Amino acid sequence: MARIITLPGDGIGPEVTAAAVEVLQALRDDLTFEEHLIGGASIDAHGTALTDDVLAAARASDAVLLGAVGGPKWDTTDPDRPRPEQGLLGLRRELDLYANLRPVRPSRALLDASPLRREVIEGTDLVVVRELTGGIYFGEILTDNMFGDILSDEAAMLTGSIGMLPSASVGAPGTPGMFEPVHGSAPDIAGRGIANPLAMFLSAAMMLRHGLGFENEAAALESAVDRALENGLRTHDLGARRPPSRP
Ligand code: IPM
Ligand code: MG
Repeated sequence: MARIITLPGDGIGPEVTAAAVEVLQALRDDLTFEEHLIGGASIDAHGTALTDDVLAAARASDAVLLGAVGGPKWDTTDPDRPRPEQGLLGLRRELDLYANLRPVRPSRALLDASPLRREVIEGTDLVVVRELTGGIYFGEILTDNMFGDILSDEAAMLTGSIGMLPSASVGAPGTPGMFEPVHGSAPDIAGRGIANPLAMFLSAAMMLRHGLGFENEAAALESAVDRALENGLRTHDLGARRPPSRP
């Protein structure tokens, strides 16, 4: 029985997390899910972006699956007000998730979706390894941590959309890792049913592989994503002409 803590968070986070849980349940019937608040949702409920209870639940889990945090509702320049990002940064720090892996492997079906020419990106298979807990993140000093953030956003264009990039944050062996899409909470499209869930699905695949040791299911999920794209399924960010109608 693998115990997964889900932290849907804000914006499109809850939509893509709910979709990923459905996919994971279809892949294995021995996963348990426990949902908690993080980021702005936690600020609204508890006045802080990460409560001690959520941190304790994450520590006691086998893996953490996180949607996204933040949104205009919580934007503030007042240093005394809580900020949604503190939930994410606090978890990374407290769980000592010092290594962040951001693989960039454009799906064959999307080779023409990138602003770069097909010949340039064909065969791309790279991983941005981002140091995650060191450095001064907030402020104006560029650090490994911040540069990793910028680099991975840049690399997203190779895949056609930032809605395609997954990530895994890992620490010492035997401690729970955290898996999250690289895209943010995208408040402008939240709640409209048009968010691309693929970065989250691919993050769930990384969780299956690196966090839980279920290699077969991870590979099955990745190939299902490729097949969906090959069959022509597209979300708005990948050039779908019209948003799909709501279920
Ligand atoms: C990411 C995000 C976060 C980061 C923000 C929300 C703090 O942009 O995971 O890439 O920069 O680490
Ligand atoms: Mg980022």
